[in-house]
Amino acid sequence: MQGLKFFNIKLVLITGFLVGFCSCLKIGETCSSSNNNCDAGLICGTCPANDNTRPRCTRIQPIIPTTKVKGLPFNKYSWLTTHNSFARTGSNSGTGSILLGQANQEDSVTDQLNNGVRGLMLDMYDFNNDIWLCHSFNGQCLNVTAFVSMAKTLNCISDLQCFFLIPCIFIFEVQINSQEPASNVLKEIQVFLEKNPSEIVTIFIEDYVTSPQGLSKVFNASGLNKYWFPVAEMPKAGEDWPTVDDMVQKNQRLVVFTSKSSKEASEGIAYEWKYVVESQYGNEGMIAGSCPNRAESSPMSTSSISLVLQNYFTTNPNVTQACVDNSAQLISMMKTCHEAAGKRWPNFIAVDFYRRSDGGGASEAVDEANGHLTCGCDSIAYCKANATFGTCDVPAFSPPPPARFLPTGTSSEPSNNSLISKPLDPHWFLLIFLTVVLQLWH
Ligand SMILES: *[C@@H]1O[C@H](CO)[C@@H](O)[C@H](O)[C@H]1NC(C)=O
Ligand SMILES: *[C@@H]1O[C@H](CO)[C@@H](O)[C@H](O)[C@H]1NC(C)=O
Ligand SMILES: *[C@@H]1O[C@H](CO)[C@@H](O)[C@H](O)[C@H]1NC(C)=O
Ligand SMILES: *[C@@H]1O[C@H](CO)[C@@H](O)[C@H](O)[C@H]1NC(C)=O
Ligand SMILES: *[C@@H]1O[C@H](CO)[C@@H](O)[C@H](O)[C@H]1NC(C)=O
Repeated sequence: MQGLKFFNIKLVLITGFLVGFCSCLKIGETCSSSNNNCDAGLICGTCPANDNTRPRCTRIQPIIPTTKVKGLPFNKYSWLTTHNSFARTGSNSGTGSILLGQANQEDSVTDQLNNGVRGLMLDMYDFNNDIWLCHSFNGQCLNVTAFVSMAKTLNCISDLQCFFLIPCIFIFEVQINSQEPASNVLKEIQVFLEKNPSEIVTIFIEDYVTSPQGLSKVFNASGLNKYWFPVAEMPKAGEDWPTVDDMVQKNQRLVVFTSKSSKEASEGIAYEWKYVVESQYGNEGMIAGSCPNRAESSPMSTSSISLVLQNYFTTNPNVTQACVDNSAQLISMMKTCHEAAGKRWPNFIAVDFYRRSDGGGASEAVDEANGHLTCGCDSIAYCKANATFGTCDVPAFSPPPPARFLPTGTSSEPSNNSLISKPLDPHWFLLIFLTVVLQLWH
């Protein structure tokens, strides 16, 4: 009886640890693209455009900076931002016609928020007596460019649920009959803010809406106005923003900017370029060594404007190229923009296909900006609790793991898998220790 009990405990413990190991591949380690066996916050990916064809665990989540360094003004943090957050691969036009608009992202706004995206760029149009998310076609939203958020609808290829085409088409029909376009995505944001009471989200609207109070109506309808950060409280002369704690406490956790200046007076929606300096978008914004402002924005160095936004994506979205753009080049441009913006690190880093990278990607860029902004270190991962600015906890470079942990058939040459230095998993020692103890006990 006694023996059986210990045996069971042992089995449970060992199984628990083994399960822990099995899904525990770290960044840079070779993974299997068929079953994502990477750690949380990572996906298994390659970057053939950078000659990286070995599937490796790749980051898709930045560190949420407010969990690491708390209570600073809003403009002392950097936030991962998705360009055309709504334009998702595999979505169909909400009107049922074939979609000609190009995709810029690969997952839903909900998934983006859950992965730590905190800035969303949304193009809004009057369409079908409502407000829709669209790609521009001479400033007009057409049926063929109207996007609708359809979480899980058309993942036919990967989704077992949609293995048989008929149920898939059926789901699609149901969805297109119950759409209320821009409000669908706004509702996703509302649900996220409700579930995460200490998170702050920023929306950048590329605003083509001319219907009176059109934006106010759609924000009201999706229940987002209760989180609204009032335009009157936005700093007007380069001062610091309120602290994130203050914004959370007052539940002013939604910051909205529009590209139409008239909306500030008519609807209380902040005109973006009064509060944000923004770099050039598209190919012109990707020329190494220069970080010009986009035409609508004041120069990057304007110190009377408190927030800095860096764009870094091609004019025509290219999913194959994105892993290159979102890696070393993005960080290099971030440094260029830091200089151009009067030694200010970007508060928003906007990319296409944020999940694509050669390892650390946009998440690493955001961590780096946050490190500089919050604690004066090269990454927010190195910030020490309550330490003075510039005191960093940089992990020591650890030796490669012993040969027996390497996959069989490789040479004893240490493989440079890891993009970050990584100590040997202490779980292994714990497991061996526990097994020995329990064996003796038994
Ligand atoms: C766009 O789609 C709607 C249905 O949602 C339809 O009533 C309308 O005629 C279409 N317009 C064009 C120009 O195809
Ligand atoms: C939106 O809601 C606010 C507050 O509830 C209200 O003052 C405003 O009139 C509403 N706007 C529209 C266009 O419905
Ligand atoms: C996308 O990027 C890949 C890799 O850089 C390149 O080979 C391809 O020509 C690009 N496609 C387009 C349409 O520009
Ligand atoms: C840091 O400071 C906060 C508030 O002063 C305190 O609650 C917390 O325990 C401190 N953390 C450490 C690790 O000293
Ligand atoms: C491993 O990779 C890093 C970053 O790419 C590089 O700096 C380092 O020199 C490499 N180490 C070895 C042993 O190749």
